[in-house]
Amino acid sequence: MNEITIDLYSDTQTRPTPGMREAIAQAPVGDEQRDEDPSVDRLCSMACELLGKEAAVFLPSGTMCNEIAILVHCGPGDEIIADRTAHIINAEGGGPAIFAGALVRPLSGPRGVYSAEQVAEAVREESRYAPTTALISVEQTSNGGGGTVWPLAAIEAVAEVARKNGIPMHMDGARLMNAVVASGVPARDFAKSFDSVWFDLSKGLGCPVGGVLAGSAEFIKQAWQWKQRMGGAMRQAGIVAAACVYALENNVERMADDHANARLLADRLAAVPGIAVEPETVETNIVFFDVEGTGMTAADIYQALLERGVRIGRSGPFRMRALTHLDVDRASVEAAADAVGEVVGKHAGGATGKDPR
Ligand SMILES: Cc1ncc(COP(=O)(O)O)c(C=O)c1O
Repeated sequence: MNEITIDLYSDTQTRPTPGMREAIAQAPVGDEQRDEDPSVDRLCSMACELLGKEAAVFLPSGTMCNEIAILVHCGPGDEIIADRTAHIINAEGGGPAIFAGALVRPLSGPRGVYSAEQVAEAVREESRYAPTTALISVEQTSNGGGGTVWPLAAIEAVAEVARKNGIPMHMDGARLMNAVVASGVPARDFAKSFDSVWFDLSKGLGCPVGGVLAGSAEFIKQAWQWKQRMGGAMRQAGIVAAACVYALENNVERMADDHANARLLADRLAAVPGIAVEPETVETNIVFFDVEGTGMTAADIYQALLERGVRIGRSGPFRMRALTHLDVDRASVEAAADAVGEVVGKHAGGATGKDPR
């Protein structure tokens, strides 16, 4: 395989910048497990301020943020409402069932955003036969939906149904800060209706690891106990938390560039014959596109792009997903779109060449 020079596989592919590495090198540290790490404390205070929550806990990954939140909210036989594309359904190894013994009830919302009416219909009536609806989970932005920003009004409408039924709300905010930058809505406004909310530092914000889960003091007390039980409590975690503090101070606004680059990529891909993409739906840093019309599979294109040093993910036999981030600039995005055009053009040319007519 050639060296990958343009990696649009995921926004998790960023490498720490020199400034971030400097922050890591200078990090004040202590024993995180004993609440003695100043960098972790600082990060958690920043998260509380940003999200308008009482308390926060630093965790190694977004998956652990989701799973611990679910463990606090749910027990065996409980049911979580989520969109059918949700990460907790498709990409956490069945975690909700394994750890909390909970089921997930998938709703089908347009581009990952389900409605309050769908939630009202899905909430279970109390019964000895049915599972108990115990949590409503919203993914901001919706990854499987194509980086869609959940509008504040849609969140508030779902929260109203949740309140009426006494059901807690959880936000998988892996890309919450992308939503903030794209919409101009402050993070705390998005977070207001939620009992638990987290955001990822290792995606668009460019850190090597980390997520911060926030909620009430009581919620975080329980979350901390699960962190301890699962072996997620750390020691001098300030080494990584310092990178997260740096990211919150330096890498938020710049995500607007990632969004512009994603839109540019979609525009360029739309001009490649056989590629189906809807640039007008690209709100943040995720671009899904369909390649069936090219006569090639996603796997063919994936491989041919790798040979050109470009990586774009496959998300189905004919579906591909590209994410923009800190380590890809406008020129890289243009080069990636050109590479797709070349690969597809070469295939079409080759096919014509072999045509016996
Ligand atoms: C929407 C969403 N939730 C959760 C996660 C899990 O985050 P992590 O990779 O930090 O475990 C991801 C990762 O891609 C994601 O896209």
